[in-house]
Amino acid sequence: MRLTLLAAALATFVIASVEAKTVLITGSNSGIGLEFAKQYAAKGWDVIATHRRTAEPESLINLRSEFPGLIHIETMDVTNHQQIDGLASKLEGTTIDVLVSNAGITGDFRNPVPQSFGTLDYNQWESFMRINALGGLKIAEAFAGHVKASEDKTIVAISSLAGTFGFRGPTMPGGYWYKASKATLNMYIKIIAGDLEKDGVIVASLSPGQVKVEKMGDVNFPGLIEPQQSIGGMIAVIEGLSIEDTGKLFSYDGTQHPF
Ligand SMILES: NC(=O)c1ccc[n+]([C@@H]2O[C@H](COP(=O)([O-])OP(=O)(O)OC[C@H]3O[C@@H](n4cnc5c(N)ncnc54)[C@H](OP(=O)(O)O)[C@@H]3O)[C@@H](O)[C@H]2O)c1
Repeated sequence: MRLTLLAAALATFVIASVEAKTVLITGSNSGIGLEFAKQYAAKGWDVIATHRRTAEPESLINLRSEFPGLIHIETMDVTNHQQIDGLASKLEGTTIDVLVSNAGITGDFRNPVPQSFGTLDYNQWESFMRINALGGLKIAEAFAGHVKASEDKTIVAISSLAGTFGFRGPTMPGGYWYKASKATLNMYIKIIAGDLEKDGVIVASLSPGQVKVEKMGDVNFPGLIEPQQSIGGMIAVIEGLSIEDTGKLFSYDGTQHPF
């Protein structure tokens, strides 16, 4: 009887060890990234939670206390290629089942002037492109080996329908830097998908919907959804992805959209 119990306990331990999966999330200290970290940890996954701050963000320290042993906080600014390559080397031998390229900037909802025709601030273009577009490309390139070696082999970028050509009809005013950077990211995702298809890696763009995050403050508009709903939906989408879905764009509710 004792032996049977021991065997059952061992089997549970082995299954738990075998099933433990890993997700790496960029920009995980707030908003959508933080909710991804929370929901994956709640599923028992190992979460490599990355941020760009000079000190560990309080939000992630709190999450680590809530999920002991599951949250691994790492510094990684997605525009700092030395830092990205450094973390990729540090994690050599660690498989990453799901890579969530989430870090991004949107702009100030209360002050859209720098991205409005007639008052465009051209100095902002580079930041948007370096973070939103090149960031996603470099992260995928640096961690492709870790993803290839995993079971789920999945890379997703948190993009936006605002970065597609057909969204809201033939015209769509304003938001120059953001929309162009997400359109570029979508194109990179499609190209990376082509390059990694032979390795069985699924690469997809995800649209989270319009999600109410802390940085929006008291801004409110119809259609805003809570992070729990958006991220819960995106995790379900990620779980349902197969290699036939590579190079495509999906909403958090599972709808596929053309680029
Ligand atoms: N919320 C929405 O409705 C919505 C809709 C469509 C797409 N998205 C996309 O979803 C993603 C997350 O946005 P969010 O709404 O959750 O906004 P958020 O709360 O501002 O989160 C953005 C995250 O990205 C990080 N980040 C920015 N630049 C970075 C860099 N160079 N290196 C590393 N991390 C960086 C931020 O870090 P700091 O805290 O240090 O700034 C923050 O953790 C973005 O890609 C955004 O474009 C959001």
